[in-house]
Amino acid sequence: MAQEKIGISGTGFYVPEKVLTNADLEKMVDTSDEWILSRTGIKERRIIAPGETVSSMAETAARQALDRAGVAPEDLDLIIMGTITPDELLPSAACLLQARLGNTTAACFDISAACCGFIYALEIGQKLLQGGRYRNALVVAAETLSTITDWEDRDTCVLFGDGAGVAVLSKGTDRGEIIDCYIGADGSHSSLLEIEAGGSLCPITHEVLDQRKQYVRMEGNKVFKLAVASMVSSAKRVLKQAGLTSQDVTWLLPHQANLRIMKAVAKRLHIPVEQVYINVDRYGNMSGATVPIGLAEMDQNGLLKKGDLLLMVSFGGGLTWAASLVRW
Ligand code: ACO
Repeated sequence: MAQEKIGISGTGFYVPEKVLTNADLEKMVDTSDEWILSRTGIKERRIIAPGETVSSMAETAARQALDRAGVAPEDLDLIIMGTITPDELLPSAACLLQARLGNTTAACFDISAACCGFIYALEIGQKLLQGGRYRNALVVAAETLSTITDWEDRDTCVLFGDGAGVAVLSKGTDRGEIIDCYIGADGSHSSLLEIEAGGSLCPITHEVLDQRKQYVRMEGNKVFKLAVASMVSSAKRVLKQAGLTSQDVTWLLPHQANLRIMKAVAKRLHIPVEQVYINVDRYGNMSGATVPIGLAEMDQNGLLKKGDLLLMVSFGGGLTWAASLVRW
């Protein structure tokens, strides 16, 4: 008997109301709208209000996605959350989201793959559904990068934003069928992008806080080069696995870290820039949440037509990389 297809039965997203513009940042650090826009393509980003968290943002996005999928929260078998900014270190943000949704039985866990969190979670969700025991998975990526940003460091604070994106993965739907995924990592570059404090290596002390080690630190230009190379090779790898080429791709949805990175990736894959979905100008880099928010916007704005081939590709701290092919 042919295997049941596994597809994306619904999408949802949430971004906080508060908008932080480049003009606002000019008042906070030594930067300019011209520098930020020309180097990154970012015009503004969203920042959480007091009390908002990864699980609260994810709840709004999840309710929207479940509604669109026609799946009740209690029918979820799995909740997989990609995040590097969980509400608390224990329990997982996935468990906190589950409680908010009123589901009391799904298996829930977080994964730490930075900007690749969503595609990693999608691969895990699809494989678990394929295993036969589960029918519906909530695949989530949500980040409050504003809480780990050093607002005195112009190298990083202009880049990040907050948001949440969700896809409901269901067995027996051919809408948004997951054709193939490829995920990988190379930990030898881990020091290029890191938060030193808060783990077992460097527990939080007053001294550590004074040294601002609780915030993200990144060697941006080294990360830039690796980002382009690994997003291109991940995209080629997943296309090859599926017996397809970049000519077959209708839409490229790349991780939204930097417009220059996205354009370089599209050029190397010979995909015209008109076929690249871009929202970095409105939201900045929301780590793992960028890809599912882009996916939900594309889905909800009717950009994805039946038969379209969507290539999602990402890259992030770890260093991690990931690509996924979806047939709409
Ligand atoms: N405003 C003004 N000047 C700045 C700013 C700023 N906000 N930030 C840096 N500069 C200066 C630097 O000090 C430097 O000055 P110098 O030449 O006098 O030394 C100059 O601008 C150039 O700095 P670079 O770092 O070389 O600039 P670059 O063109 O590489 O752009 C950026 C920096 C935007 C960070 C880019 O390297 C980038 O996007 N990197 C990749 C980020 C990424 O993909 N991250 C992945 C995932 S993130 C995650 O996982 C959470």
